Amino acid sequence: MITETVKIAHISDLHISGKQDRRQLSDLDRLFNHFNIAGFDHLVISGDLSNRANLDDWRIVREKLESHGLYNWDKTTVIAGNHDLINLEEEMRFYNALNPLPLLRKKTFERKMAEFGAYFQELITGDEQGDNAFPFIKIINYPAVKIAFVALNSVYPWYPADNPLGARGVINPGQLRALSHENVLAPLKECFVIGLCHHAYRVYGTDSLIDQAFDWTMELKNREEFLALMKTIQAKLVLHGHFHRFQAYTVSGITFINGGSFRYTPQRYSELLIDGPESYTQTFVMCQ
Ligand SMILES: [Fe+2]
Ligand SMILES: [Fe+2]
Repeated sequence: MITETVKIAHISDLHISGKQDRRQLSDLDRLFNHFNIAGFDHLVISGDLSNRANLDDWRIVREKLESHGLYNWDKTTVIAGNHDLINLEEEMRFYNALNPLPLLRKKTFERKMAEFGAYFQELITGDEQGDNAFPFIKIINYPAVKIAFVALNSVYPWYPADNPLGARGVINPGQLRALSHENVLAPLKECFVIGLCHHAYRVYGTDSLIDQAFDWTMELKNREEFLALMKTIQAKLVLHGHFHRFQAYTVSGITFINGGSFRYTPQRYSELLIDGPESYTQTFVMCQ
């Protein structure tokens, strides 16, 4: 029997902000280099690649991945975070000046999401061109196990009252429906399924009332629907970011792993070792 372990690295919330921060860029080089030396099979980046929804920051991540030979469909998976799709300062400035119609804002948001999909198309479908985005599924056949990454967008457009910081999340009904379809579920049955989304299922980590008063501004609004979908697709793990904390917790038998934040702790990442359809270990590792 082949028992080759599949090694997956998970990082999140890079919040790249231009090329000026040289330390951040060399930290990224060091980490990607470490992933290659340590022999990782796959890398997951669970959103907030950019700090201000800037394509130039996406380009930095892409170029770093390319220079380390990681910019391939079977090597890396990226999803968008709220900071990739929403520029809060811009939203507020336009809102205050023009009070634009919600429909217009929704259109701008959708355009940004399509831009993300087109920019990272090669990592999404393996094609150089196209604008397919969320949800998407990647099934990779490793000798020991077939792994399915099921990626959803959880970023919710900015609205002044309902999403004042642009940090609340939602999984829209179209994605929930698409992934509940029998044609989708059948091939997943023989895979080790890993769900990916940017937002956290569980937000608060302290008992402070002040923290809890702000929790709703960061929460995944329909997290119970999301959890139900993860059960339907028989996900064993869900990898996320957003709430900049390295943590692992279990809800209804599904383990959620928060990949913390590369921006604040650039040496730390989550390591997943998967040896078979039922067997895995997860640890947070410091790269020296
Ligand atoms: Fe973030
Ligand atoms: Fe975020």
